[in-house]
Amino acid sequence: MNDLYILGIETSCDETAAAVVKNGTQILSNVVASQIEVHKRYGGVVPEIASRQHVEQITIVIEEAMRQAELNFSDLTGVAVTQGPGLVGALLIGVEAAKTLAFAHSLPLIPVHHIAGHIYANRLVKEMTFPLLALVVSGGHTELVYMKEHGHFKVIGETRDDAAGEAYDKVARVLSMPYPGGPHIDRLAHEGEANIDFPRAWLEEGSYDFSFSGLKSAVINTVHNAEQRGETIEPADLAASFQTSVVEVLVEKTVRAVQEYQVNQVILAGGVAANKGLRNHLTERIAELGNVDLVIPPMNLCTDNAAMIAACGSVFFEKGIRADLSLNANPGLDL
Ligand code: KG4
Ligand code: ZN
Repeated sequence: MNDLYILGIETSCDETAAAVVKNGTQILSNVVASQIEVHKRYGGVVPEIASRQHVEQITIVIEEAMRQAELNFSDLTGVAVTQGPGLVGALLIGVEAAKTLAFAHSLPLIPVHHIAGHIYANRLVKEMTFPLLALVVSGGHTELVYMKEHGHFKVIGETRDDAAGEAYDKVARVLSMPYPGGPHIDRLAHEGEANIDFPRAWLEEGSYDFSFSGLKSAVINTVHNAEQRGETIEPADLAASFQTSVVEVLVEKTVRAVQEYQVNQVILAGGVAANKGLRNHLTERIAELGNVDLVIPPMNLCTDNAAMIAACGSVFFEKGIRADLSLNANPGLDL
């Protein structure tokens, strides 16, 4: 059988990324141009600026990915691209670049859902063993996805309001921390005590959905009320209490789903997978279950990247999934 060389392209938010993956599992290159420094001064991602940055970076990033992989476009088997969800103007840049390459070099075009990509980052690290459950937690997503085989995705839970990372970033802003605030809160949380009883949104009995806006508001109100009363709250305690609330809900819902769906493997992905509290608590709780494999890919594969899109695209390619040149970015794409 011929080797499979898939170029992946990802531009759904604030990372311009391109990567080449061989046979679905071997990373030949994985180039990411992050825009964090540009968006930092605005306290969050500015969509218009993101699109403009992608336009400036996309060709450079793709060429660098090809150079590092030591391949010509004619060596590729196909081009995989994030079709959605994400910021429409940002997605469009990647989709247009992928379509142009597919047309110019007569390559198959493979559309990939961003969350499917996050899950398939796992395949670059370890074999996927089904059925599996993925907890994808980032600045834009909080999703629990069940997979019974390759290419089959069932979203069993998602956030009804803020994503977990978004809640971290908003709370961090109240504490005057720079964007993105997640890592700062995480660090501070380990110096404090979880002595403030913030709400946990369990939602209806049996629901795997999440909600973080109530918790976020509770934290913000606690800070403002204390300020008005002239009291001081120890920021580290606030961070620890907030983190405990977030982690407890994420982990307990995941554990319950593992039991209900009898999965063999759990995958943690997305930028919030860097969170030490989440990693530690999830590791402990999954270990208690016995016989369930927990995979947390290295951080460069957990945050937005294109190797995960190429890895997913490789599986989709083999399943015969193709798009034609009418492919359009879809900011609200369903999994
Ligand atoms: O996956 P990602 O790089 O980008 C997308 O949102 O797609 O995730 C970024 C998010 C930000 O909200 C950031 O604050 C959060 O991940 N994050 C963390 C940590 N590191 C990054 N949140 C909590 N604890 C961390 N250690
Ligand atoms: Zn992402």
